[in-house]
Amino acid sequence: MKNLSRRAWLKTSALGIGAISTLSKLPLQAASSKSIDYVSLARELPLPANMQVPMRARLLANENPFGPSPKAQQAIMDSISQGNRYGHSDAQYLIEMIAEKEGVKPANIMLGPGSTDLLEKTAIALCRHGGNVVSADPSYLSLVNTAKAVGATWKAVPLTLDQSHDLDGIAQSMDKETKLVYICNPNNPMGSITNFEAVKSFCKNNAPKAPIFVDEAYLEFLDNPQEKSAVNLVAEGHDVIVARTFSKIHGMAGLRIGYMVATEARIKSVTDMVRSTMGLCITSLKGAIASFQDEAFIAECRSLNKSSKEFTSEQIHSLGYQEIPSHTSFMIFPIRTSADTFAKSMLAQGVGIRMYAIENQPWCRVSMGTMEEMNYFIDALKVTEG
Ligand SMILES: Cc1ncc(COP(=O)(O)O)c(C=O)c1O
Repeated sequence: MKNLSRRAWLKTSALGIGAISTLSKLPLQAASSKSIDYVSLARELPLPANMQVPMRARLLANENPFGPSPKAQQAIMDSISQGNRYGHSDAQYLIEMIAEKEGVKPANIMLGPGSTDLLEKTAIALCRHGGNVVSADPSYLSLVNTAKAVGATWKAVPLTLDQSHDLDGIAQSMDKETKLVYICNPNNPMGSITNFEAVKSFCKNNAPKAPIFVDEAYLEFLDNPQEKSAVNLVAEGHDVIVARTFSKIHGMAGLRIGYMVATEARIKSVTDMVRSTMGLCITSLKGAIASFQDEAFIAECRSLNKSSKEFTSEQIHSLGYQEIPSHTSFMIFPIRTSADTFAKSMLAQGVGIRMYAIENQPWCRVSMGTMEEMNYFIDALKVTEG
């Protein structure tokens, strides 16, 4: 079944069977050996330097082209004159709003300037005495990289053939040295999901052994995100840390706000070392408070993202590409030229994308922009690999 699924997405691509066999040859043995300095299956490739072309479509950082919400913008403008004050009371207000929505207490919430900050602080707090962190590969690497930088090792568990987390493999890789498990659901850079109920059972079964960090940066692009979230496990007392961000569906990436939800003891284990709200701007806090209440804006972004994805998917299929089905605000697909040639051509046409090498195969990850931007992307793609 899992095999069929991978074949299904590759069947219309020019890569064919060669790519299937390459992608199936995942270095499973690396996952279980502590001594191997594991190198990720996916490498984010640097974009060509010195290309001073005006950007017509910025589709390289999974930003939301429709944000921030007009209400958030107004709140930010109104708060500029309060810039002489620390934002402690606004931070507390936002924490209380989040706590109410997530069904937890304010003491279960930690804010940060973006969820990157929270991923890094958690990694520092929990991995600074060594041990290992277990996560899927390919996946988002902020937490893993920081954990490695402070002395932990990484046990990487390749994704299954249908691009979901190998939860059994992750459980088997955990040992008495495991300080943290990281699950990114939906996953970046693959855009794929892991069955939400399976993730919840995994958390319940394994959180007694080590804290499980579930990064839900893209969850709100799905319908009924609250049902899919692992956040309820925190209220039940499980040692699960759920991170969310205002950078994606709220369209506030440059304003830097994110939060995590965890047991009071787990939050304290991080805030004993670093402060939760000191890195936050009053303007961003006011914007986040307004955006959090702007449900109509969120629903509109979800719907516009879906339209851009449907359009892009259809268009790239007609050009012979096949993306991994996306549950996020971006999609990734294997390309037919070298990553360098591809990126140079796209950038020369004013289209920013992100390139990955996954097991030596170049892939293009494109963020969903406005319909106009997606049209630019498709036009540039036709020229690039036409
Ligand atoms: C999976 C995932 N987690 C976290 C982040 C970090 O986002 P931020 O620090 O802007 O909240 C990103 C950004 O792309 C992401 O893709």
